[in-house]
Amino acid sequence: LKLQKDLLYEINREAAKFYYLNLGQNREALEYLGRRNLNKDIIKRFGLGYAPDKWDSLKNYLIKKGYEEEDIEKAGLIGKRKDNTGYYDKFRNRIMFPIIDGKGRVIGFGGRVLDQTMPKYLNSKDTLIFIKGNNLYGLNLIKRNFNLNKIILVEGYMDVISLYRNGIDYAVASLGTAFTSNQAKLLKRLNKEIYICYDSDNAGINATIKALNILDKEGLNPKVILLPKGHDPDDFINKMGLKEFEKLIDNAFNPIDYKILILRKKYNVNDIDGKIKFVKEVSVILRNINSPVEREIYIDKIAKEMEISEDAIKKEVLGNNYKNE
Ligand code: UTP
Ligand code: MN
Ligand code: MN
Ligand code: MN
Ligand code: MN
Repeated sequence: LKLQKDLLYEINREAAKFYYLNLGQNREALEYLGRRNLNKDIIKRFGLGYAPDKWDSLKNYLIKKGYEEEDIEKAGLIGKRKDNTGYYDKFRNRIMFPIIDGKGRVIGFGGRVLDQTMPKYLNSKDTLIFIKGNNLYGLNLIKRNFNLNKIILVEGYMDVISLYRNGIDYAVASLGTAFTSNQAKLLKRLNKEIYICYDSDNAGINATIKALNILDKEGLNPKVILLPKGHDPDDFINKMGLKEFEKLIDNAFNPIDYKILILRKKYNVNDIDGKIKFVKEVSVILRNINSPVEREIYIDKIAKEMEISEDAIKKEVLGNNYKNE
């Protein structure tokens, strides 16, 4: 008797094969990937595929292979019709990205539309073998690569793939901006220097700050790669190339500098009100620095930049504990 989990891995692997074979036959999907600069080698390396624009093509394929509808449903690939007349394919007319775990097993999928339809990406629902927040996309490739000293954490499928295509084969994606402590634990186990490179939009910036705090709780001290406003790693490296991206890696920010930089952009410090708010918010960040030396260095820096006395900033930072220092 096969274990339920093993059966779901098997079904997902068969589905990946089905989507992969269908991609080769669909000109529209191949053209789409071509426009995104992905060639046959990359398609193969990441096992990309295409889900046909039909309600039952995967279902029929898997049934023919001998799998039961109930199990295919448990793998998250088909759903029960509302009127209880059977099952339908969940992924239709989408580019398919298999999500592969560190042991090389296909655990789920992301599917992208070829146009502007929403939702842009559809992911497998949570199943016995797939919990979105417990995985990192691209982990399977990292695990085979022993010479790395860095890991870049990005948001999306296309970010991992584009970086890879351009020579950066050490990125993983959190699959959106909801980075979790389980993902932080996965990163910690890899024991590399971590760089966060989320999209340079409001969602990405807020998510970066949250991820920094989650990683900090795991005792990790990552750096942040800053992209020009509005870009994600995929846009940037396609437009600017590897050399320019590597420059950004070299200039990555430590967490405190990054947080201060973001606040600096939020407030107009030429305005008194803006300056007060900025200093108050920065003070909260500095208060949480454990090392007195590091804290002092930042206090000095902010004092100089804002033309405020170190003493005043120190009081703001330390509050009631000021006397004890
Ligand atoms: P983005 O919205 O930044 O998309 O989502 P993207 O990866 O840059 O998409 P492209 O370049 O237009 O193809 C980042 C990641 O968040 C998850 C996906 O994992 C996506 O890659 N996401 C996004 C979803 O799960 N669902 C969505 O509707 C959107
Ligand atoms: Mn984004
Ligand atoms: Mn993006
Ligand atoms: Mn993108
Ligand atoms: Mn001083």
